[in-house]
Amino acid sequence: MLRRTIVCLSLLLSPVAHHALAEPSKAAASPIYGVTIPEGYRKWELIAPAEEAAPLDELRVVLGNPVAIKAIEHATQPYPDGTILVKLAYKRKQSPDFEPATVPGQPTTVQVMVKDSRRYASTGGWGFGRFVNGQPVDAAQHQTCFACHAARVKDRDYVFTRFAP
Ligand code: HEC
Repeated sequence: MLRRTIVCLSLLLSPVAHHALAEPSKAAASPIYGVTIPEGYRKWELIAPAEEAAPLDELRVVLGNPVAIKAIEHATQPYPDGTILVKLAYKRKQSPDFEPATVPGQPTTVQVMVKDSRRYASTGGWGFGRFVNGQPVDAAQHQTCFACHAARVKDRDYVFTRFAP
């Protein structure tokens, strides 16, 4: 009798287990912070571009969600909860069409900062996520985020990028 019950239970549970296993790949969250790539971010407004010298040789663009853009327009500091900043990075390369021009090459990372002053109280209110090919990188890399932002731009709510009109 007991054995029969166990068999029945495992049959009942198995579809659930499969479903649970399939879930995490959908929206993989960063270690430590649990930040995911926000939906629709590619249509957000541009805050500013940036270029990184060798050895990284990258072009970047920083985008902000509507909460971020409104905060910038009103010079609101610190950024309110709900602010999300996304940085897209690409290898830089010479334009194949026009020599003096530098254009984006292969995409390298997508990096995200989410403001939630209670959840992320110990890191200035910001949660961090760094993604390569849509997957979060390891915890060791996530341990470096806040330290660098805090060391250099603490007085601007830990945000490097200034709005480029
Ligand atoms: C060694 C310093 C350093 C570290 C470590 C670092 N950042 Fe940054 N971050 C920068 C700089 C500088 C910028 C300004 C844009 C640029 O030059 O690429 C920036 C910009 C950003 C931005 C756009 C908002 C802003 O502050 O301008 C996000 C989002 C971001 N970083 C996320 C991360 C994440 C996530 C990590 C950890 C995985 C991380 N950063 C680690 C230096 C750093």
